[in-house]
Amino acid sequence: MAPRRAGAALLSAALLLLLLPLLGSAGLSGYFGTKSRYEEVNPHLVSDPLSLGPAAAGSQVPAACAPLQLRALLRHGTRYPTAGQIRRLGDLHARLLRRRPAAACPAAASLAAWQMWYEESLDGRLAPQGRRDMEHLARRLAARFPALFAARRRLVLASSSKHRCLQSGAAFRRGLGPSLSLDSDEVEVNDSLMRFFDHCAKFVAWVEENDAAMCQVEAFKEGPEMRKVLEKVASALCLPVEELNADLVQVAFLTCSYELAIKNVTSPWCSLFSEEDAKVLEYLNDLKQYWKRGYGYDINSRSSCILFQDIFQHLDKAVEESKSSKPISSPLIVQVGHAETLQPLLALMGFFKDDEPLKANNYVRQTHRKFRSGRIVPYAANLVFVLYHCDQVKTSKEEYQVQMLLNEKLMTFHHSNETISTYADLKDYYKDILENCHFKEECELPKTNVTVIDEL
Ligand SMILES: *[C@@H]1O[C@H](CO)[C@@H](O)[C@H](O)[C@H]1NC(C)=O
Ligand SMILES: *[C@@H]1O[C@H](CO)[C@@H](O)[C@H](O)[C@H]1NC(C)=O
Ligand SMILES: *[C@@H]1O[C@H](CO)[C@@H](O)[C@H](O)[C@H]1NC(C)=O
Ligand SMILES: *[C@@H]1O[C@H](CO)[C@@H](O)[C@H](O)[C@H]1NC(C)=O
Repeated sequence: MAPRRAGAALLSAALLLLLLPLLGSAGLSGYFGTKSRYEEVNPHLVSDPLSLGPAAAGSQVPAACAPLQLRALLRHGTRYPTAGQIRRLGDLHARLLRRRPAAACPAAASLAAWQMWYEESLDGRLAPQGRRDMEHLARRLAARFPALFAARRRLVLASSSKHRCLQSGAAFRRGLGPSLSLDSDEVEVNDSLMRFFDHCAKFVAWVEENDAAMCQVEAFKEGPEMRKVLEKVASALCLPVEELNADLVQVAFLTCSYELAIKNVTSPWCSLFSEEDAKVLEYLNDLKQYWKRGYGYDINSRSSCILFQDIFQHLDKAVEESKSSKPISSPLIVQVGHAETLQPLLALMGFFKDDEPLKANNYVRQTHRKFRSGRIVPYAANLVFVLYHCDQVKTSKEEYQVQMLLNEKLMTFHHSNETISTYADLKDYYKDILENCHFKEECELPKTNVTVIDEL
C-alpha cells in the first residue's frame, strides 16, 4: 500500500506542478488593467467566442421598438507591446542572463531560459488574436442587431490613423462577411474624432507633457505597497533591490499579461507575482488612467466633447430623418480608436466615478472602486449607442429611445437607473455638455502673454 500511496502522492504533486502555472495566470489575469483580455469581462466567450452570453436575454431589442441607428466606438483588439516596452523588457531579460542564476533562484533560472521573442518592429501592432477579437465582435453585434446589419445597409467605418486601429477596422469588416454589401470601401481615418487628445493643446500642455500632472502615480511607485512588491520580486530573482525599480517590475508584469493575451500561455514572468502583488500593480495602472484619461483632471474628459457632440448630432439627424419618413442615412457607424478614446468619453458622461479620487495614499480604501480600467477598457472594448423608434401605443412612452452597451452589456443611466431612456430625457440630462462643451474653447490654451502684459 505504502509505495502505491507514495506513487499517487508523487503523481498528484506532479499534476499540481503542471497546473500551477495555469492557476497562476487565472489568479492574475483579472488585474491586467488596460492589458486585459476581452474574455475577462465576458468569460462565456472562452468556450464560445460567438455566444451572446447569459446577459443577452436582457439586452434584446425592447418590445415594440425597432433599432434605427447603431454607433459603436471600439478599442482596437489585442496588440503587441510598444517598442519602448519591448526595449525595457530586453534590458531586464539581458540583466537576468548576465547574472548566472544561482540554484537558489529557480525563478531567475526559468526567466533566463525564456526566449525573448519580441522585436521592436512589432511596436504596438495588432496581434493575430486582435484580428480574431474584432471578427468575433462584429459577428456577435450582427447577431444581436440583425435588422441593422442586414444586407445592403450602409456602414460608415472610421478609425484612428494608428496601424492597429486600421487593421482592427478591416478585421471587423471581414467579420461581417461577404453577404453584407457595404457601400463604403475604405476605412476613413479621422484622428480629430478618434485621437482628440493629441489635438487638444490644453491637454497636451497641462497633462501629457507635464511631469507634475502624474505626481500621484510617481508617489505610488515610491510608496510602501510598491516597495513590498519590489522587495519580493528582487528576492525571487536574487537581485539586490536597488537594481530594480517600479518601471522594471511593471515591465515584468506586463510581459505576463502580453504572453497570456497574445499567445494564450502562462509565461514564467507570471510566477514572480502573487495575487496581492497583482492588485498593487493594477492600482498603479488605474492611477495612471485616472489622472491621464479619467476624472483626475477636467480637461481629460472635456477634450472628448468633439466626439460626444458628434454622437448626438448623428442621433439628432436619424431622429429627424425618421420623423419625416426618410431613410436613415447613417444606420451603422463604427469607429475604431483607443482606450484613451473611450475612457475620457465615459468620464465626460459620468460613468465609473468614485466618491473619492484615486490617490497614492488610499490604495486600501479604493479596494472596491468603480474605476477599474480592466473592467472598462480591455482590448476590443466597445461602447455602443442604439437609437430605437418605438410604437407609442404599446409603450405609452416617447417614440425615440436609447440604450447604451459597454462591452456588450447594458449600461444603467444615472438619471433614471434604467437601461433604456427616452432620447429627450437623455439629451436633457446632458444638456449642459451639449450646450456648453465645445472642443475648440475647452482645448484652447489661455494666452499667457496677456498675463505677462498685465503684470507689466
Ligand atoms: C472627422 O469627423 C468630424 C466630425 O464628424 C468632421 O467634422 C471632420 O471633417 C472629419 N475629418 C475627416 C478628415 O474626415
Ligand atoms: C487557451 O488555453 C487554454 C488552456 O490551455 C485552452 O483551454 C484554450 O482552448 C486556449 N484558447 C485558445 C483560443 O486557443
Ligand atoms: C438606483 O438603484 C440603486 C440600487 O438598485 C439604488 O441604491 C439607488 O438609490 C437608485 N438610484 C436612483 C436615482 O433611483
Ligand atoms: C501674445 O500676444 C500677441 C498680441 O496680443 C499675439 O499676437 C501673440 O500671438 C501672443 N503670443 C502668444 C505666445 O500667445
